[in-house]
Amino acid sequence: MCGIVGYVGAQPAAPILVEGLTRLEHRGYDSAGVAVLGPSGLKVAKRAGRVRDLADGLPKRFGGKVGVGHTRWATHGAANDVNAHPHSDASRTVSIVHNGIIDNAAALRHRLTEDGVELVSDTDSEVVAHLVARSTADTLEGKVSEALAAIEGTYGLAVLHADFPDRIVAARNGSPLIIGVGDREMFVASDLAAIVRHTTTVAHLDDGEIASVTATGFTTYRQDLTSTAKSAVQLDVDPSSYDAGEHESFMRKEMHEQPAAAERALRGRLDERFGTAHLGGLNMDARETRAIRRVKILGCGSAYYVGQMGAGLVEELARIPADAEAASEFRYRNPVIEPDTLYVAVSQSGETIDTLLAVEEIRRKGGRVVGLVNVVGSAIARACDGGIYLHAGPEIAVASTKALTNMFLGFALLALQLGRVRDLSIADGRRLIAGLDRLPAQIEEVLAQEDTLAVLAKRLAEAESLFFVGRVRGFPVAREGAQKFKEISYRHAEAYQTSELKHGPLALICEQVPTVAIVPADELTDRNVGALHEIAARGGPLVVVTHEDVDLGDLTAHADLQRVDVPRNERELDPILLTIPLQLLAYHAALHLGHDIDKPRNLAKSVTVE
Ligand code: F6R
Repeated sequence: MCGIVGYVGAQPAAPILVEGLTRLEHRGYDSAGVAVLGPSGLKVAKRAGRVRDLADGLPKRFGGKVGVGHTRWATHGAANDVNAHPHSDASRTVSIVHNGIIDNAAALRHRLTEDGVELVSDTDSEVVAHLVARSTADTLEGKVSEALAAIEGTYGLAVLHADFPDRIVAARNGSPLIIGVGDREMFVASDLAAIVRHTTTVAHLDDGEIASVTATGFTTYRQDLTSTAKSAVQLDVDPSSYDAGEHESFMRKEMHEQPAAAERALRGRLDERFGTAHLGGLNMDARETRAIRRVKILGCGSAYYVGQMGAGLVEELARIPADAEAASEFRYRNPVIEPDTLYVAVSQSGETIDTLLAVEEIRRKGGRVVGLVNVVGSAIARACDGGIYLHAGPEIAVASTKALTNMFLGFALLALQLGRVRDLSIADGRRLIAGLDRLPAQIEEVLAQEDTLAVLAKRLAEAESLFFVGRVRGFPVAREGAQKFKEISYRHAEAYQTSELKHGPLALICEQVPTVAIVPADELTDRNVGALHEIAARGGPLVVVTHEDVDLGDLTAHADLQRVDVPRNERELDPILLTIPLQLLAYHAALHLGHDIDKPRNLAKSVTVE
């Protein structure tokens, strides 16, 4: 949510900043801007719209070898030119870019206004520029430190000052920021994606840290300017994994990466001999694992829906009561934290503030939390007692796909390990391991149905409103399917338990309202098929996502029924294979409707504000 990039070195900064912003656009894309420090002082260009609009409108003379850039997802104030970052003081001495929320912005605005400062934007961020400009400290580091002392809230911040033209001063509190080390050039970024083509040697700032960055190096401080002596590390990443390659969108690329990503999630973690999983990162021995009496899963959006799938896996395999809850609601109901409950925070980005605050609430009350997180070293990963990294690789599309698949696998591994220290037999453990081994190839088989699913998707895209229905294992699948569909096609898609249709929503079923029904071959198949008859009798078009051995009986005579078969695996692992066709349906509906698939309207990749 919002992206920051900064450059200081020997090259013209603006092209590097614009390219970096393009790579960050998935984090926020309603406005963008850059500021550079050149021989004639500070220059700022910013505007509402996409980074390409900013690039097209950049003045010819925009030289400077130090600069900062920002791509915004509006929180305070509309998405317009004035509210776009960077924000500057009236004399254009200071320019800042900010991610996060300044909680006491209203009070600071009031104070500044009383002192005669004219604030030009509606943002909370602008106050930082004025506070830095008004500081009487001798150094830029001192000015920033003084400004931060007045601020309450979260920030990833990068500051330029015309009187200190050789540096960027950056600061972090609750919003990620890294320093990239190049050859006589240095970078600042909120996300590695912005700078990965220039360097993979980085230092992660910690909360409460300030960094002073010049072309030849960087120094880190606490807020009181005592040194924190931090050094950079070489990350093991392939820069090309941040490119869409031959794919027309990141979402399509990431869907097709799922078999390989799934293999990475499982690699080295399956123990055939004891029919269990190895998850060293949980930091729990067998005795502690056995002592768990309940599992509570917390995540937001799609991560929450996969959490529901995960709760099902834990209950089925380990017979431990488990449930999932939206992390965004959790801490507001003053939750009871139990010592023998294992809390699991699930997040692709590891940055989602609602999930992070839930983790902090649990730990504050003495609970144990483990993380299922994709981004290594992210805030949630660091806040947990232990965890399982997802190894999905960078996920750029706003609509999450491969990370969700790997979350499911993470839950399967966790459930297996919990089950095998309890009553799950070795034979069942091995059965699950064999099933997990088969999954990557089966995901590939579903992806191979893309052409057929594209045809179905075009028909679904024509409907203004759709239902996604499923029961028990199939219900979180339906929820995730509806989420993906609405997120990128902008069609109203509602998920319901199939069993609940007749208690209300059946009133909406008609020829114009299709239903995507999840009907696995399980103990509920007949009941599911019964409910589909009720939909068919009311003329509702049906897309049935099922297994090839499911007999739909008389329903096949229904004029408007399409069937999508996914391969059979162990029934506990059904949800993930049933989810893959729903990704393709959403994708092709959005493609057909001509939407920007990787950057759906009003959304951003990671939600770092409450
Ligand atoms: C949907 C989607 C969102 C995220 C949610 C949590 O496709 O991507 O619903 O799942 O915002 O994000 P993370 O997993 O980064 O915590």
